[in-house]
Amino acid sequence: MQIVHTIAEIRKLVGPARAEGKLVGLVPTMGAFHAGHLALMSRARHECGFVVVSIFVNPAQFGPSEDYQKYPRDQKSDAEKAEVEGVDVIFAPSVEEMYPEGFGSYIEVVGLTETLEGAVRPGHFRGVAIVVAKLFNIVAPDNAYFGMKDYQQLKVIQKMVRDLDFDLEIIPVPTIRESDGLAMSSRNVYLDTKERAAATILYRALEFAKERVLEGERYPAALEAAIRRFIEQEPLAKIDYVAVVDPDTLEKLEKIGASVLVALAVKIGKTRLIDNNVIFGFKEGAFKTPIPL
Ligand code: PAF
Repeated sequence: MQIVHTIAEIRKLVGPARAEGKLVGLVPTMGAFHAGHLALMSRARHECGFVVVSIFVNPAQFGPSEDYQKYPRDQKSDAEKAEVEGVDVIFAPSVEEMYPEGFGSYIEVVGLTETLEGAVRPGHFRGVAIVVAKLFNIVAPDNAYFGMKDYQQLKVIQKMVRDLDFDLEIIPVPTIRESDGLAMSSRNVYLDTKERAAATILYRALEFAKERVLEGERYPAALEAAIRRFIEQEPLAKIDYVAVVDPDTLEKLEKIGASVLVALAVKIGKTRLIDNNVIFGFKEGAFKTPIPL
């Protein structure tokens, strides 16, 4: 596995792989790998002949009071893990390489970015969109892999790809969880022992919500209120938002129909965690064949 830091170097490696007819897979990351990242790499390895993993803690997507400086960084351990997954090359550019002096172009994905994370983290998706678009232009992958834990990010990127005619496939990969349900996240390392135990409230709240929908709850406001009450039982949890919305548009629903997205942002101590689940509003077992995702 090679590790390169410049746009010229990564292009030099990807070009010949493509010329050999290999499918190029890109896994964009900010490093600090956990099993969620490894699942993206493993999927890319299965589907592509040449796998690029980018590691770049992107300053453009962090707000001024967010954790850009203290975001976990460990390139040595990341490189070891990526090598085990069979990654061909790590692209780890500097901030200056990605945003040279005079840089001034951004992408606004209108319509999906005003709610949820976009509402509480102004500018976040503008920063995500520009760095992902740059990575797509630099690597020109056939497939790019994104985790479903960042559900809104996935939707925003899918829309950007459609709107800007990027010639690639976005492959969503399901959330990987700890054995007690906590979604894998690089930010979990911030949790102390008590907070780590409390953090399972997000997953338990999603399971609770699923039960309520499968039992017949059809009113988003009632479901949201019930989820809030459930989370409030945990003294270390402070709700940022609980959203019960349309999984495609992320807009409020009048009534829960075929499917609903429950998305949560909850602070556990000082650590802000997000999680989500798309629930299909039918009784389990009511259909003989599973509904395709
Ligand atoms: O999900 C992430 O890790 C980041 O938002 C991404 C997609 C790598 C862009 O910086």
